[in-house]
Amino acid sequence: MTTILHLYSSARTEGSATRALTAEIVAQLQRTDQGTTVVYRDLTKQVLPHISPEFLNGLFAGGEHANHATVKLSDLLIDEVNAADILVIGAPMYNFSVPSQLKAWIDHVLRAGKTFKYSAEGMPIGLVTGKRAIVAIANGGVYTTGPMVAFDHVEPLMRQVLGFIGITDVTFIRAEKQAFGVEAASQELEKAKHDIAGNVAKAA
Ligand SMILES: Cc1cc2nc3c(=O)[nH]c(=O)nc-3n(C[C@H](O)[C@H](O)[C@H](O)COP(=O)(O)O)c2cc1C
Repeated sequence: MTTILHLYSSARTEGSATRALTAEIVAQLQRTDQGTTVVYRDLTKQVLPHISPEFLNGLFAGGEHANHATVKLSDLLIDEVNAADILVIGAPMYNFSVPSQLKAWIDHVLRAGKTFKYSAEGMPIGLVTGKRAIVAIANGGVYTTGPMVAFDHVEPLMRQVLGFIGITDVTFIRAEKQAFGVEAASQELEKAKHDIAGNVAKAA
């Protein structure tokens, strides 16, 4: 039995490229493996709180603070990651990075002692191992080649964050030019769907 954790973070409910692509990725995984369970988390519907004084007290002051609702929420989000075999994450580019809803999820999931630790030499050790992630990124412009490459803080961030907690098997599916008119946008989407058919099935 394969468990998929499907995370959405596009604020667009209609016409979202990352919603369409992650749905296609999940469908592809389900075609390959009939026994999948999918856990959906729409980060735009249940918006996670920012890191707060209460959350930090819960993590570091301990005692009764450790039972604060924000810590329990973080525990739940980490449980969802640990229970998953595959994470499918929709990551639209908002102002060169991920939507703040997805950043809030990262802030709840990266927890010392739970999802990562440091070795005696100060090297990070990811504690979430044996999993795969597939991240669908959509952006209005072009960031995989040309002068805007350095502005892409989505793919590097997601690769580093996931790798930091131990998820190093990460596939990126990208749809660029979503602001270059209908024809260019749909061509990019078709190309991304082709990538899904090739990469997701092959490695599943
Ligand atoms: C608030 C906001 C900020 C955006 N910032 C960028 C950006 O920095 N670079 C870019 O190429 N596109 C940007 N876009 C365009 C989106 O990345 C593009 O529409 C993409 O398709 C969004 O994913 P979605 O279709 O799943 O919603 C932005 C869109 C919004 C709504």
